[in-house]
Amino acid sequence: MNNKKEHEVQQLLAEKSEFKKEIGVFGGVSIIGGIMIGSGIFYIGAYALQRSGMSMGLSLLAWIIGGVISLLGGLCFAELGAMMPKAGGMYVYLSRAYSPAVGFMNEFTSWLISGAGSNAAIALAFSTALAVLIPMGTITIKFVAILTIIILSGVNYRGVKQGSVIQNIFMIAKTIPLVLILVLGLFMGKQPLNLSLIPVSDPGLSRILGMIAFATIATLWAYDGWTNLNAVAEEIKNPKKNLPLSIIIAISSVTVLYVLFNFAIYRVLPADQINNMINNGDLYLGTKVAKVVLGSIGGIIVAVTMVISMIGSLNGCIMSFPREYYAMAHDNLFFKSFKKLHPKYKTPSTAIIVQMIISSLLVLLRDLNQLTSLVIFSSMTFKALTIGAVIVFRKKLPNIERPYKVWGGLTTVVITILVMVGLIINTLINDPTTSLVGLVVPAVGYLFYRYFKARNQKGMEHNA
Ligand code: ARG
Repeated sequence: MNNKKEHEVQQLLAEKSEFKKEIGVFGGVSIIGGIMIGSGIFYIGAYALQRSGMSMGLSLLAWIIGGVISLLGGLCFAELGAMMPKAGGMYVYLSRAYSPAVGFMNEFTSWLISGAGSNAAIALAFSTALAVLIPMGTITIKFVAILTIIILSGVNYRGVKQGSVIQNIFMIAKTIPLVLILVLGLFMGKQPLNLSLIPVSDPGLSRILGMIAFATIATLWAYDGWTNLNAVAEEIKNPKKNLPLSIIIAISSVTVLYVLFNFAIYRVLPADQINNMINNGDLYLGTKVAKVVLGSIGGIIVAVTMVISMIGSLNGCIMSFPREYYAMAHDNLFFKSFKKLHPKYKTPSTAIIVQMIISSLLVLLRDLNQLTSLVIFSSMTFKALTIGAVIVFRKKLPNIERPYKVWGGLTTVVITILVMVGLIINTLINDPTTSLVGLVVPAVGYLFYRYFKARNQKGMEHNA
């Protein structure tokens, strides 16, 4: 017997899609891979090491755990996406599993901090990397970050075509520094590795566990983006098979790449040198590797391609986030002005401009390390809730076809959620400011949800 909820979902699934189905496995893998590999891999290694008490062993462990968590989360998203291949991803699952309010709060949080914060973080990482090529002070670095956000918002304001051309060119550029450093480090690195899991200061087991968690959270920023393919599930060919396959291939390859990349760095740079660099605010260990092995030309090639990679990611974010807010407004669940498309350029212009302002403010108010923590913390609750939707749906929608089921079943789901809750608690303890912002914003989001609903109701009575 199908229940009412199942009937609704079956109807949703039977709706004819207006999207063209053009994305295959290769396309899917390059979409998620392209979003995940952006800025983080190039500098988070420095933060992960610092947060691990400068223990290379612990830091590599954090990279492995970060990848495994993302993969486990990815398996859950694969089940959700394959059973409901609809545009919108997390918004669709959260709204159906819990209530539309939860879906809304996720978008609202993205609008004010996690999406805007991603833009801010990537822009700041970009100008910091640029400072390796053209020395700049801290204030100038922030100024350049904001200027970059403004310019790219301008490009995307004028049309999506320009935006997507930038995207393709820059996608190619980002593989150069990664592969170069990886190969150089693995084949030419001679440093003896100390993979002990105990930092030199030996702070005791419970402190070490805290360090691993704190370092893992840093790596999660570099892995972030593994949820994004689900949002375009409706445009994937044979999503029942290709969506899970793309998710699994992409996240596992990125994990292997990231762990090897860091391993390669540790093979070339001695621990004291890394320590000195970090203390001087120089986070780009990979550029140093290329300089050491290939001389200054190598350093320049890596720095330039890195900067290009980051611009590409920033452009991708600036292009895609406003379209989510636009879609919400279209459902009458956001500010009316966000519904407007620019009369000439046909882009969601208000959403783009407001995003530009919020992102620039975040650049001013937070530093890079704080921004990445903010983005990860504020989106983690919603990721954990989305993963919980696997359990909710199995209860509420037992008869809907599930072409892919999470490996390991509900045990995997529960473990993933528990690990995420652990990381959330760790942030609450280690970084109360970030946590407070990350909790207050969704709560405010709830108030806005009530407001928009009331407004719609009034509108309906008015029209009646
Ligand atoms: N992992 C990317 C980076 O290291 C950031 C991804 C931003 N998140 C997103 N959902 N677009 O730069």
